[in-house]
Amino acid sequence: KRPIIIDTDPGIDDAVALAAALYSEELDIKLITTVAGNVSLDKVTYNTLRLLQFFKKEVPVAAGADRPLMKEPIDASNVHGETGMDGYAFPEPNENLLLEEHAVNAMYKTIIQSNEPITLVPIGPLTNIALLIRLYPEVKVNIKEIVLMGGSTTRGNSGVMAEFNIHADPEAAKIVFHSSIPIVMVGLDVGWKALVYPEDSEKLKTMNKTGHMIYHLFQKYRGGSMKKGLKMYDSCAIAYLLNPKMFTVEETYVDIELTGSLTAGCTVTDLKGYLNKPNNVTVCLDIDEKLFKHWFLESLQKCN
Ligand code: BDR
Ligand code: CA
Repeated sequence: KRPIIIDTDPGIDDAVALAAALYSEELDIKLITTVAGNVSLDKVTYNTLRLLQFFKKEVPVAAGADRPLMKEPIDASNVHGETGMDGYAFPEPNENLLLEEHAVNAMYKTIIQSNEPITLVPIGPLTNIALLIRLYPEVKVNIKEIVLMGGSTTRGNSGVMAEFNIHADPEAAKIVFHSSIPIVMVGLDVGWKALVYPEDSEKLKTMNKTGHMIYHLFQKYRGGSMKKGLKMYDSCAIAYLLNPKMFTVEETYVDIELTGSLTAGCTVTDLKGYLNKPNNVTVCLDIDEKLFKHWFLESLQKCN
């Protein structure tokens, strides 16, 4: 089993990604850390604990950064609802899973105690990962890779040119992208093709207990407008871990725009080599939509 740490901000698509990861036979989730993003830190931590209670899974949880490194916080409650996971009456969480220590310290300990290098899977803003790199740079050699959901090679979904997770904390993203740790950027290019339509959602409704819960969350995701497909952004990062062949990738240089008056938070992806810099990121450019859909439904089928 591949040891991973998931850093998350649930978030409806985070909840779905967590389900797929928690029930996968190939992943060993050592720790789940939370970060302010889709909604506040308190809410995303509460949501993570509620999900674990729902799934009856015992994974330690540590709460991390409650705001970005430099800029004022933004959120995505317009997409995920006020609670971040609107639409389903979850059980009250098992607070015993919540560690007292900060996410960054918990990550540090988990990484150094692991027998093999750990893969980090951030599916929210990169604040915790940047703090980890700055506070404990010595752990870099024990991180196998960072498979992150974030960024775009074209337009954004939070700003004209900025994807939400990067836009929420561009300075943190800059630190992570320049960390020299191998990075896989699973961004909007593929998220826009990882779609769930009303007929898929109907299948989920009667599939099992998890499918039923997700069906209800989907009624509130983006205000329930499902006709054009709901984007399973965060699940793409999990799909990459389990089946990278589903993706078309390219190694390239990516930098984060911090100061552009119109483009701050943009992942500047130098596919043509204009900047003449060494490659630092494996960028997912495309995804096999059929394979994704098949994997997606099959993974949720296991969540019982
Ligand atoms: C990302 O932003 C969040 O709203 C989603 O959970 C996902 O991680 C997509 O841009
Ligand atoms: Ca997310």
